[in-house]
Amino acid sequence: MTAICVEALEKTYKNGVQALKGLSLSVQTGEVFTLLGENGAGKSTLINILTTYLRPTSGNARMLGKDLYKNAAEIRSEIACVAQRTSIDTHLSLTENMMFQSKLYKIPKAEATERMKALIVAFGLERYMKYPVSSYSGGVKRRLDIALNMMSNPKILFMDEPTVGMDIQSRLAMWNMMKKIRSDFGTTIFLTTHYLEEADQLSDSICIMKDGKEIIQGTPLALREYLRQDMLQISFATKGQAKEHTAILAQSLNIKKMEVRESQIVFNVDNGLMELERTNHFLLDNQIIFTGIGIVKPTLEDVFIRLTSNPAKEVG
Ligand SMILES: Nc1ncnc2c1ncn2[C@@H]1O[C@H](COP(=O)(O)OP(=O)(O)OP(=O)(O)O)[C@@H](O)[C@H]1O
Ligand SMILES: [Mg+2]
Repeated sequence: MTAICVEALEKTYKNGVQALKGLSLSVQTGEVFTLLGENGAGKSTLINILTTYLRPTSGNARMLGKDLYKNAAEIRSEIACVAQRTSIDTHLSLTENMMFQSKLYKIPKAEATERMKALIVAFGLERYMKYPVSSYSGGVKRRLDIALNMMSNPKILFMDEPTVGMDIQSRLAMWNMMKKIRSDFGTTIFLTTHYLEEADQLSDSICIMKDGKEIIQGTPLALREYLRQDMLQISFATKGQAKEHTAILAQSLNIKKMEVRESQIVFNVDNGLMELERTNHFLLDNQIIFTGIGIVKPTLEDVFIRLTSNPAKEVG
């Protein structure tokens, strides 16, 4: 079943900035859907429209089988949104925060208590209960914020860049939490990020967007050639040296496209380890002086370059 269906959505702000330029995408019920895009791509604008805070300039959107504008109030009661800023009250305890949330949604007390217990266990929050909320780290605050948003048993949970600025430990805890929400509570998750790895690890479906429009949508597997492409990077002492060796390397190693970035040469390869060995040999055999060689993962920018050098297509 389709949870969210967006067609040709456009949004022009009062100042004339066109944040969405005919965006279309669809989200299936029960999946983790990731919207991947750089700063200013229009991710938050879309979330604000889908959570009914903003009205689009034109286009259609249906959610949970209802029209987003005609049934806005009804839809609002069935969704929750974890915004960039947390909605926690640091003067209240963890459980007080959760019960307060249930009052906002008018959930009967007995039911709210049961639900709170289940969420505390599911998200491993027991051990924080004895400490004041004001002492929590950023990562734990965010986990509590998500637990709060889950109190109303939403059908869809929106999260706008939930892991931005987190260290790897907190990010992993957050990923586990999202997997749990999907498996234990069956909630559809719509999240935005600009981390390729996060989209790859976590999502059932990914939509990559740029400048207010989707470029491609598919499963991580279908987008594998973009998300998990190995790249080889050879470092030189200076940019001049990198430039000087580009032509000979491209020709001898039969690489169609090589790029010089600062004092490094970077190019796509199919098999990172094999190419690393081959290239390393070539450099040594030809006594080319370099300062380092290694396999690097593509950045979002690299994915865009690859995607835009191929015409957009629907995959997965
Ligand atoms: N209230 C507003 N009024 C005018 N322009 C806005 C407003 N909000 C966002 N914009 C502009 O719309 C474009 C899309 O912004 P949006 O916040 O949706 O992007 P984003 O993908 O969420 O970016 P980020 O990764 O930085 O959060 C940007 O050019 C932004 O400057
Ligand atoms: Mg944003």
